[in-house]
Amino acid sequence: MNDKAVPEVLVKRSEIEDAVSRLARRINEDYKDKSPVLVAVLKGAFVFMADLMRQLDMPLETEFVGLSSYGENTQSLGKISITLDLNCDISGRDVIIIEDIIDSGLTTAFLLDSLEERQPASLKICALADKPSRRKAPVVIDYLGFSVPDRFLVGYGMDCAEKYRNLPDICFIED
Ligand code: IMP
Ligand code: MG
Repeated sequence: MNDKAVPEVLVKRSEIEDAVSRLARRINEDYKDKSPVLVAVLKGAFVFMADLMRQLDMPLETEFVGLSSYGENTQSLGKISITLDLNCDISGRDVIIIEDIIDSGLTTAFLLDSLEERQPASLKICALADKPSRRKAPVVIDYLGFSVPDRFLVGYGMDCAEKYRNLPDICFIED
């Protein structure tokens, strides 16, 4: 991918809005009498969480977690660590992990294990996008926006070398 590559739209902003509303309706129903903690995985999920949370009508809290995977390329190699931890105790809390995209599933599987040890009352996953064809670790996505083909996506929070997060649509870049 070079700097001059022009991202092409895969999912338009209006379709993203519809998907976010659909997910928010389900979460509003499922967490009607609850007070969940939304945990956004930095950096990619912050745009999605910002839109989603404004359509949620229960009392909620927001937290951020930073994860890094070490490797020579852009693909997760399974060696993952927490670079920024939550600011609150989630034991006994209803936690919803907010992810931009689940690819191999290794990052999410690691985060699930790590948060499960803290004994939340419940732990669910809400992801904007899923690339099921690349799964290495089985992950059940409770709330999913889009199933997408195996292409490198940018926009709506997702980056390529830290660029393109500000694009309002979900786009892909041709190699
Ligand atoms: P996984 O561990 O392979 O599931 O990868 C998870 C993380 O890699 C995601 O949370 C993203 O931050 C990043 N990622 C995976 N695929 C893409 C993509 O197509 N565009 C941008 N980031 C991606
Ligand atoms: Mg991410």
